[in-house]
Amino acid sequence: MSKKELRKEVIQGRMALSEQEVSSKSNDITKAIINMEEYQQATTIMAYVDFRHEVQTGELIRRALNDGKRLTVPLTDMEGKRLVPSLLKEFPEDLTPGAYGILEPRPECLRPITPGELDLVIVPGVAFDEKGNRLGYGGGFYDRFLPQTGKDCIWLAPAFELQLHDSVYPDQHDCPVHILVTEDRIIKKVR
Ligand SMILES: Nc1ncnc2c1ncn2[C@@H]1O[C@H](COP(=O)(O)OP(=O)(O)OP(=O)(O)O)[C@@H](O)[C@H]1O
Ligand SMILES: [Mg+2]
Repeated sequence: MSKKELRKEVIQGRMALSEQEVSSKSNDITKAIINMEEYQQATTIMAYVDFRHEVQTGELIRRALNDGKRLTVPLTDMEGKRLVPSLLKEFPEDLTPGAYGILEPRPECLRPITPGELDLVIVPGVAFDEKGNRLGYGGGFYDRFLPQTGKDCIWLAPAFELQLHDSVYPDQHDCPVHILVTEDRIIKKVR
């Protein structure tokens, strides 16, 4: 199997989940994350905004804003092939559909910060192995973004169990995440 084939297979598996399964598993994952020290100690967070049966992040975003965290969401700069973290004040009012139809900050709500300010990044992905290796959508956006964060920044990926595979065919440029949180378990990489 190749990266491309695995991507297709896992996306299909995720799309086959019912809306109810997606939200109930997402709830379990969100609860686990907010109970973690890594979340509680984080001041500045970037969280992806879910689309098409990704683990939902809406509750986590609301919770972080409520907890007084500096919560950012990524703006996708297609031309520059990069992600820009932007501080969110009102969720979802500050957002509008952007690249790929994913919600991102409206131009008038754009409040960029530098990646070095982040303590925790909630990373999306298609498939993962138990070492934290990550297969994304094929744009290399997170592989270029994550190395710009500080050395103590934690990269955490929420994922459904069905997204875990024995191998995700990592390349040299692929950035493995430090923590995986599924509906059943927390997998941490020794740092
Ligand atoms: N650090 C990097 N610097 C330059 N190019 C990169 C880097 N990381 C990845 N790329 C390029 O991006 C392309 C896609 O990479 P890859 O297939 O790993 O994407 P992905 O991890 O699935 O996507 P994403 O990170 O957006 O979720 C590759 O052709 C790769 O050469
Ligand atoms: Mg990659």
